[in-house]
Amino acid sequence: MDTALKASAQLREYFVGILADRRREPRDDMVTVLAGADFDGVRMSDEQIYGFMRNLLPAGAETTSRSTASLAFGLLTHPAQLAALVADRGLLPQAIEEGIRWETPLLNFMRQTTRDVEFHGVAIPEDSMVSVNLGSANHDEARWDDPERFDIFRERKPHIGFGHGAHVCIVCTSPASRAPCSSTPCSTGCRGSVSAPMPRRRTSPACTSGPHHTSTWCGIERQGLIPNLAPTSKTSS
Ligand code: HEM
Repeated sequence: MDTALKASAQLREYFVGILADRRREPRDDMVTVLAGADFDGVRMSDEQIYGFMRNLLPAGAETTSRSTASLAFGLLTHPAQLAALVADRGLLPQAIEEGIRWETPLLNFMRQTTRDVEFHGVAIPEDSMVSVNLGSANHDEARWDDPERFDIFRERKPHIGFGHGAHVCIVCTSPASRAPCSSTPCSTGCRGSVSAPMPRRRTSPACTSGPHHTSTWCGIERQGLIPNLAPTSKTSS
């Protein structure tokens, strides 16, 4: 915890200079927008801006680097699909969506229940911490046909890789920004022959999406904080 707090404080110090810099010389970037943001006369405090920047770093960087690498892996290990994409750039949006479904970049996050709920037969009391597994949901065999298969031509339907509800990814609110795709293999000129054996894709619930390890659309992990969670085959193993 000490290390995390120290890192957080160091990050804040790093942001202080950047925010001051944007106030002096505004640029066409997110920090400049935050510095000048005004919602009905309410402005963000500097601490709120630093907090947002702390969130923005992993939100924008980890997700895009992971999704780009995973899409590259999927395409390079499926040369026919890569060839189709190279021949038709119009397939790029569906390839990106399939990459995010297949290897969901943000796997887990926490939610706290505001009331007692029953979810797929599991009773969850108010104030419980619930770990939601997006990667598992995106491999739910009840929703996806052969979910472990990477297939840019699969039937298109919404996945949950960008979250859902009030905190859905900001990328979803602007189609133009939904393009961490400019550096995908097909647009950087890769023509898709793999000369060396590709590394095997490793799967684990902690860092990769498949295989699906719950039988519900959202995974619920048993936490010490959920005292009444009945053992059921629908919970994560
Ligand atoms: C492949 C790319 C991306 C994926 C898969 C992704 C995924 C997600 C997910 C699942 C959430 C919901 C988190 C939650 O509910 O707690 C989220 C939220 C968010 N994302 Fe993204 N994201 C991506 C790219 C980006 C980029 C490029 C940015 C900004 C530069 C960004 C900024 C944010 C922010 C600020 C939130 C928090 C929204 C809120 O709490 O209201 N994301 N993202």
